[in-house]
Amino acid sequence: DSVHVFAPATVANVVCGFDVLGFAVNEPGDEVVMRVKDTPGITISKITGDDGRLPLDPAKNTVSVSVQHYLNSIGRADIGLDIELHKKMPIGSGLGSSSASTVAGLYAIKTLMGDDRDPINLLPFAMKGEEMACGHGHADNVAPALLGGFVLIRSYEPLDVVRLPHPKDLWCAVVFPDVDVPTREARQIIRNKINMKDAVTQWGNIAGLVSGLFMQDIDLIGRSMKDVLVEPVRSMLIPDFYKMREIAMSNGAVSFGISGSGPSVFAFTRDEQTAKDITQKLQQHLTGLKIGSNTYVSTI
Ligand code: HSE
Repeated sequence: DSVHVFAPATVANVVCGFDVLGFAVNEPGDEVVMRVKDTPGITISKITGDDGRLPLDPAKNTVSVSVQHYLNSIGRADIGLDIELHKKMPIGSGLGSSSASTVAGLYAIKTLMGDDRDPINLLPFAMKGEEMACGHGHADNVAPALLGGFVLIRSYEPLDVVRLPHPKDLWCAVVFPDVDVPTREARQIIRNKINMKDAVTQWGNIAGLVSGLFMQDIDLIGRSMKDVLVEPVRSMLIPDFYKMREIAMSNGAVSFGISGSGPSVFAFTRDEQTAKDITQKLQQHLTGLKIGSNTYVSTI
């Protein structure tokens, strides 16, 4: 028995919704091949596309660890499994790289076990993988990677996840500048206390964004995607962030911001061509700064 699963990259936070909003893109993403084997225990026989950065030790890899948690929960800790992980996206990119791997692994084991419950049941195990990867079990990458589309984490305790609609004609341009911003560190620099005035601005914007998604109102979505809490601090870790915003917005973007904890940035557009033009212009700008980049254009 063997399965081959793809799980997509995700954009967490969606600018104003730190730790509570995220959506999945069509590409890039990671793939897991999982086989049942005779000898008990999990092995990882192969990892590709990671430049040797990820551990093959099943006790240290987020995919095998979260799969083990799942197996323990269904009383099948004894089963023998072999995992191959094929990374098809950059690590430490702010595109939910660890989430895509973990979710692909969990979906693979769910399929092998013939578990036909709603995939949302896998979320607590995927969050354990996130906790291991960056010290905090946030769900705004794993939930959309698991469920697709836009997702709101209404509450963490108890966990309450809401699938949100989105306008059909919304495109996403993603640019990954090739600099390292580990999520663990990008979380440490955020302020712990916020003032009431900023909080009011922020929750007005989150409510506006969610309303815009329901109303298919792309203008409302665009003007709500502003972040006065996290972006002012994290933008410092991203090369020429405000210049990139200016380039995106003056070339037809509806909104622009940091994807997850960065360094990737993303823009929403109303059509594919505008998204392509924006990725090209941002890539050119980064090349001028001698920074390599990967770009992706996707519907949501
Ligand atoms: N909400 C998380 C953060 C997402 O911003 O740290 C990390 O990808």
